[in-house]
Amino acid sequence: GPRYPQVVVLVGATGDLSRRKLLPGLFHLASAGFIPGCRIIGVSLDDLDVEGFRTVARDSLDHFFARKVSEADWATFAETLDYVPLSAGAEALRDAAARAEAALGGESRRLHYLSVPPAAALSAVRLLGEAGLVERSRIIMEKPFGTDLASAVTLNTKLHEVFTEDRIFRIDHFLGKEPAQNILAFRFANGLFEPIWNRNFIDHVQIDVPETLGLGQRSGFYEATGAFRDMVVTHLFQILAFMAMEPPTSLEPAPISEEKNKVFRSMVPLDPRDVVRGQYSGYRTEDGVDPESDTETFIALKCQIDNWRWAGVPFFLRTGKRLAEGQRIISIAFREPPKSMFPVGSGVGAQGPDHLTFDLADASKMSLSFYGKRPGPGMRLDKQSLQFSMRDTGLIGDVLEAYERLILDAMRGDHTLFTTAEGIERLWEVSTPLLEAPPPVRLYSPGSWGPKSIHQLVAPHAWRLPF
Ligand code: BG6
Repeated sequence: GPRYPQVVVLVGATGDLSRRKLLPGLFHLASAGFIPGCRIIGVSLDDLDVEGFRTVARDSLDHFFARKVSEADWATFAETLDYVPLSAGAEALRDAAARAEAALGGESRRLHYLSVPPAAALSAVRLLGEAGLVERSRIIMEKPFGTDLASAVTLNTKLHEVFTEDRIFRIDHFLGKEPAQNILAFRFANGLFEPIWNRNFIDHVQIDVPETLGLGQRSGFYEATGAFRDMVVTHLFQILAFMAMEPPTSLEPAPISEEKNKVFRSMVPLDPRDVVRGQYSGYRTEDGVDPESDTETFIALKCQIDNWRWAGVPFFLRTGKRLAEGQRIISIAFREPPKSMFPVGSGVGAQGPDHLTFDLADASKMSLSFYGKRPGPGMRLDKQSLQFSMRDTGLIGDVLEAYERLILDAMRGDHTLFTTAEGIERLWEVSTPLLEAPPPVRLYSPGSWGPKSIHQLVAPHAWRLPF
């Protein structure tokens, strides 16, 4: 954990992310002793007093903290909370921070968490500057980092006027998921798979993150963001980089970023013809949604990495809301043998290629599928698989949630699992053709797998899901 007590300034403290993840996460870190001391100053547009904010926090723990909250832990945590409405201004924030530091005694560090939409990020940075809260401070930014290349460049430039790059932590919580980090372990700690991790053996890759969830309370944010900015340019591209990167020279932040950025540089700018945008029927009549909204709640696309390792291997990405199942898988389809010696009708090939599949669900799971002979006379083949689940190892104890892990890393100044300004800007550049000429949204029924045209997108391959 971090060496110093922390003053956390949580901007957007009453928002959806804060209630779902950040307040429960900070509560866990503080009550389980991961941080030597902590005071949290909530900031948001809501005109609350400290008691009002405590009520928000208590409610958040009751709904979103995984275990029962003991009254003693709650009392301790509630004591550390303070609140400053944005309307109170920089002076009030400065005073609150001074009080928090006094309460912690001795030397402390500050962590500013900006859980606000892109349009509000810069005014929040300005506020921190005016309140004199830049020294001894680190800042966590939430995605999407801008909304296109120009706004991302502006955001980074303005951000750098206040905070140096080594103080900035652009969070992508998918990288904090244990199974995502396990991709690095799997690829680089084993000799077996890396030799076949390339275009000679791999036919295509799918990163598929369908969700059953709808918008919840977030229609305002979502309507302005859409599935591409919410999920693809952020989480899915980051996972793609973990899958596709060359071995870094070490597991330090700079070498990892460098290899990820090389993948991003090799990505071919997205072709709108290789993109399916969808919107579920009924979206336009939801509260807070424009009746003529063109926001996509679904996106599927083909992406190409034009380098020595991956040339000609398509990466298919898909994600969306109100789909048939909630899954987070990465699946690698291997090339089929050059020639089949099995009799026609034996079943070989009928169930698709062999796959290695990573499941990014809470407990890491993996499977490797292959054809095997069905016992009995003759030669009939079926798909079999080797399965691994981290849950069966008994190694899962009090695991930190993705956000908790990343907040702790930021408090320690460890950038390994964060993204860089350069990488983010390149991803917006790759996205520009799509953002400039998005294909029209196609309707899909809630509970389906998306618009019909998703099948053409991957043809002659097929989607791996549903299993
Ligand atoms: C968030 C998106 O970043 O990730 C949400 O804003 C999405 O729309 C969520 O539902 C998915 O995260 P997880 O951890 O539940 O897979």
